[in-house]
Amino acid sequence: MGSGPSFPMVPMTRDKLFIVTGANSGLGYEIAKWTSMMGATVILACRSEGRTQEAIEKMNKEFQAEKAKGTAGLTDSDSLALEYMQLDLASFASVMEFCENFQKSGRKLHVLFCNAGLGLGPFQKSSDGNEMLLQVNYLSHFIIIGKLFGIMKQSGPDCRILLMSSAAHKSGTFDLKTINYDGNPDSYPRLNYYGRSKLYQIMQAAEMGRRLAGSDVTINSIHPGLIDSNFWRDWNTGLKKVAHGAMQATGVAKSPFRGAKCSIDLAVNPKYVGLTGLYWCDSKVVTPNSDARNKGKQEALWQWTMEKVKGYLTEEEIRGLQGTGSEQAG
Ligand SMILES: NC(=O)c1ccc[n+]([C@@H]2O[C@H](COP(=O)([O-])OP(=O)(O)OC[C@H]3O[C@@H](n4cnc5c(N)ncnc54)[C@H](OP(=O)(O)O)[C@@H]3O)[C@@H](O)[C@H]2O)c1
Repeated sequence: MGSGPSFPMVPMTRDKLFIVTGANSGLGYEIAKWTSMMGATVILACRSEGRTQEAIEKMNKEFQAEKAKGTAGLTDSDSLALEYMQLDLASFASVMEFCENFQKSGRKLHVLFCNAGLGLGPFQKSSDGNEMLLQVNYLSHFIIIGKLFGIMKQSGPDCRILLMSSAAHKSGTFDLKTINYDGNPDSYPRLNYYGRSKLYQIMQAAEMGRRLAGSDVTINSIHPGLIDSNFWRDWNTGLKKVAHGAMQATGVAKSPFRGAKCSIDLAVNPKYVGLTGLYWCDSKVVTPNSDARNKGKQEALWQWTMEKVKGYLTEEEIRGLQGTGSEQAG
């Protein structure tokens, strides 16, 4: 499976259910493909049906190629259990529709992989009035977690929430007063706001891991490394283009498959049962920056976020997320 850390091929049946956001491309594509090749059903929660159906077709072709190569641990099924569900993280209405459709289905949910993300483009505001990275990378995933957490709690003894963060969190400032950028679009500090969105994910995993300790649902965040994916599509001019070219030519950037190994490992490997609230890279726990580790700031971010998203959650969902102490008390 190539160099670097790897993951075990864990046999799963089709009733093991994964949701992967942004699964039509890059890291999400590899996570969805490999976990479904182990037998799980994977819902690809994506904004474009066309791109997702193409991805599903490609995954099935690659599955047949892996079978022909004799790759160990593949499901015996003839085709992969992959399903598309519409989700546009830039719209809270779409997030709500996605969650309500999933809730109505009555299905269990074992792994929720909040992978989709944007970064480094020019300033954009969502239709809900939020700086785009705050909404797409953080707030919308927070709502999905809040709305589906109750289902995960009832889904069995080992359910996992994973958040695709980044070492770029170190470029983010923690300042709740300026959390929702509203300045001059021409002076938008894009790397700082990308970093902020990734910082919040690490802080969320730490805070929620602590609140829900003792429940059967764990939450962790990940830095996948520098990945040669569509993520860099906005870096197509001038010096940025040169930097991207150099990244590819020198091999500094990992392929999406190499970059996804830690994520796949954390999603399936039984050795991680019960580990929660941690930040990972290359299948090892790593230390994020001091803001990410600061419990006071984690708590402040949590309160700010709950206030911001409470209109999208029921009383029961809010109580479930708050971890009223019952989990801790056992
Ligand atoms: N690439 C890196 O070097 C790197 C490093 C650290 C962390 N990460 C993180 O890794 C994650 C995956 O990125 P990647 O490198 O695999 O990039 P990618 O190939 O561009 O994949 C990003 C995925 O997110 C989806 N997405 C973007 N906006 C969305 C929205 N509004 N609603 C629903 N889905 C949306 C994209 O869908 P479309 O195809 O429809 O655009 C795509 O499926 C991101 O969270 C990123 O921040 C990447």
